[in-house]
Amino acid sequence: MAAKSDFVVVANRLPVDRVRDEDGQESWRRSPGGLVTAVEPLMRQREGNGAWIGWAGDASDSIEENVEPFRNDGLILYPVPLTADEVEKYYEGFSNTSLWPLYHDGVVPAEYHRAWWNAYVAVNRRFADAAAEVADDGAFVWVHDYQLQLVPALLREKRPDLRIGFFLHIPFPPTELFSQLPWRRQIIEGLLGADLVGFQTPGAAANFLRLTRDRLGLKPSGSTVQVDGRSVRARAFPISIDVASFADLAADPAVQARAAQLRTDLGDPATVLLGVDRLDYTKGIGIRLEVFEELLEESKVDPAETVMVQVATPSRERVEQYRLLRENVERTVGRINGAYGAVGNPAVTYIHRSMPREELVALYLAADIMVVTPFRDGMNLVAKEYVACRLDGTGALVLSEFAGAARELKQAYLVNPYDIEGLKSAYLEAINADVGERRKRMRAMQRQVKGHDVAAWAKSFVEEIDQLRQSSEML
Ligand code: ADP
Ligand code: F6P
Repeated sequence: MAAKSDFVVVANRLPVDRVRDEDGQESWRRSPGGLVTAVEPLMRQREGNGAWIGWAGDASDSIEENVEPFRNDGLILYPVPLTADEVEKYYEGFSNTSLWPLYHDGVVPAEYHRAWWNAYVAVNRRFADAAAEVADDGAFVWVHDYQLQLVPALLREKRPDLRIGFFLHIPFPPTELFSQLPWRRQIIEGLLGADLVGFQTPGAAANFLRLTRDRLGLKPSGSTVQVDGRSVRARAFPISIDVASFADLAADPAVQARAAQLRTDLGDPATVLLGVDRLDYTKGIGIRLEVFEELLEESKVDPAETVMVQVATPSRERVEQYRLLRENVERTVGRINGAYGAVGNPAVTYIHRSMPREELVALYLAADIMVVTPFRDGMNLVAKEYVACRLDGTGALVLSEFAGAARELKQAYLVNPYDIEGLKSAYLEAINADVGERRKRMRAMQRQVKGHDVAAWAKSFVEEIDQLRQSSEML
């Protein structure tokens, strides 16, 4: 076992996923999703003995397997094994078929099964045990996201000396919706094991605090609630990106040349619309394509002049709702291209795979309009990445008001993704806006993003925990 760590991240996934090729050769690949985008650069830049506890993304034959920690680019990674049954019940089941839809406004119906819950409890316990083992005396342990909401309390039971933070990367639902959950009380108690519970928005923190009153009979006051003689604070810490690293890539001549090449490959259209998302039903990919289709149908945009690129990263592919979504999106892309594409120039270019960061940034540079239309999203880092990359101040962002990012990126073309006519107007407004108008909006959004990058986010979270600890020690 490696030396103990004074700063420990606990997240469902490690920042890298283990992949095995057909010959059984093992390699590591960057894990998907916004959590890794945000937290990985912070941990890699840390001097000292930062540790990251997480699942390596594959099924183990037994939970005794593959538990050896290893060093990866300056970080110590502690794999937590999951069996195939746990992947099905804890990850695909309770995390992504119960909690994920419930926390995203019930965009699709959530399902609840006792066997899934039991697996969630068992796996949360395994993560808490690993953290208790790895953390040095008085260390800071930062637990992340909805898959691990029981860890703070389980860990506190074993290690009351630790400073424990929890951050939820996804929305936290209104109390009426949350109250469906058969195990609602256990989840709230689990989170209350932390000293500080961070959310993406003030509304989410308020929902949680209200639940501590409604479900546990506690008496929250302001952003704090007393539980078992301790103070727990809950408030918003809107997450961000490593702005400089995106700006550096956007300034790289090779990336800029690739962006120019992409535009040529797309047929040198006047306007390129772009969507980049995990292929997830919360992201509003289908509606975004259908709106483009209607504009083509009504001849409001010309397919020779305006094209769309949709990158849809494979995600949770064994979960039924994700399979249905993929079929639906791919059918829509096929229909639009059948009706409006030309030989060598599809109206929609669809990419269903993950890609290197350089290629993604080249796409951001090649796109005149970024379309981000989730029905509900904790933050949406893609929106911030696009803004960070548009160094010359050009480009426009169409952004759902139901993404956490809309609270900060107020100069985007804000839309209600349920309002099809509103979406169509916003596309057209963004497409037809003059350069000056677009630049004014983009510059304002850039000031916001540059002033609030992910390092500032982490610093404010860690400092607040330290302050809370100091003030409770003084009591
Ligand atoms: P979520 O966490 O729900 O996936 P976010 O928009 O917050 O949504 O974060 C998605 C992250 O994944 C971003 O950092 C984005 O750059 C990255 N990403 C999305 N699609 C791809 C892709 N095809 N290849 C590589 N990275 C991707
Ligand atoms: O922040 C959203 C998030 O769900 C992370 O918790 C997660 O790691 C990521 O997106 C990708 O999802 P998954 O781990 O299920 O592939």
